[in-house]
Amino acid sequence: MEMKKTDNNNYDLAAYFYDSLSHLYSGFQILACKAYQINHIKAGDTVLYAGAGGGDDAILAAKKGAEVTVVELSINMLNKSKKKIEKAGVADKITLIHGDVFQHTDRQYDVVAANFFLNVFDTQTMPVMAKHLSGLLRDGGLFMIADFGPRRGNALMRLLQQGYYGAALLTFALIAKNPLHQIYDYQTQFEALCLQTKNVEDFGLFGKGPRWYRVLIAEKTA
Ligand SMILES: C[S@@+](CC[C@H](N)C(=O)[O-])C[C@H]1O[C@@H](n2cnc3c(N)ncnc32)[C@H](O)[C@@H]1O
Repeated sequence: MEMKKTDNNNYDLAAYFYDSLSHLYSGFQILACKAYQINHIKAGDTVLYAGAGGGDDAILAAKKGAEVTVVELSINMLNKSKKKIEKAGVADKITLIHGDVFQHTDRQYDVVAANFFLNVFDTQTMPVMAKHLSGLLRDGGLFMIADFGPRRGNALMRLLQQGYYGAALLTFALIAKNPLHQIYDYQTQFEALCLQTKNVEDFGLFGKGPRWYRVLIAEKTA
């Protein structure tokens, strides 16, 4: 497995407003995507959240009875999630690791979740990270992604979707030095990694709006 060190620890500033901004920007649909994934996690599953940010998804999984590991590069993000985890009373179910998930190699999981995570990497690094995460899954394990969905609809809707995505892209390019790129097609990544797609669920902006958020769940076949 190719290892690659990344220097994207620029979410320290974003940690102060990231959760509130994402709820506002998506009308709580980012949270809805994460809550949907929990239906596919069983009590006792070992679950890795790569770049978990505020950790809402990790808390939901721990409440379901999963044994959760969070690997997060930004110390401010990690501290934020630590406070929420303690408040939720699930600290005994979650191991917090401050570090680069590229350096996290020592075990395999039943579930690996990359929520709004792979999009912080440039077009060359993203497939390498996807491959690394897939290597952290046991055979039969599930790879879960929640992120921006592919462009869809007529020309006007595609333009609006591009503008919506572009606003987030530019904001985090400025604040967190994220690279500029088009919306990634993660299903193609799954195919390249021989992961079998099991579920594709789209979520509408503010619940009832255009379906611009997507959850993908794929199984690692032996
Ligand atoms: C866009 S945020 C997404 C946060 C969260 N998963 C969510 O859904 O809201 C990306 C997160 O990944 C973290 N991150 C970036 N590169 C990382 C790496 N190599 N290893 C671990 N975390 C990383 C950032 O610090 C940031 O908190």
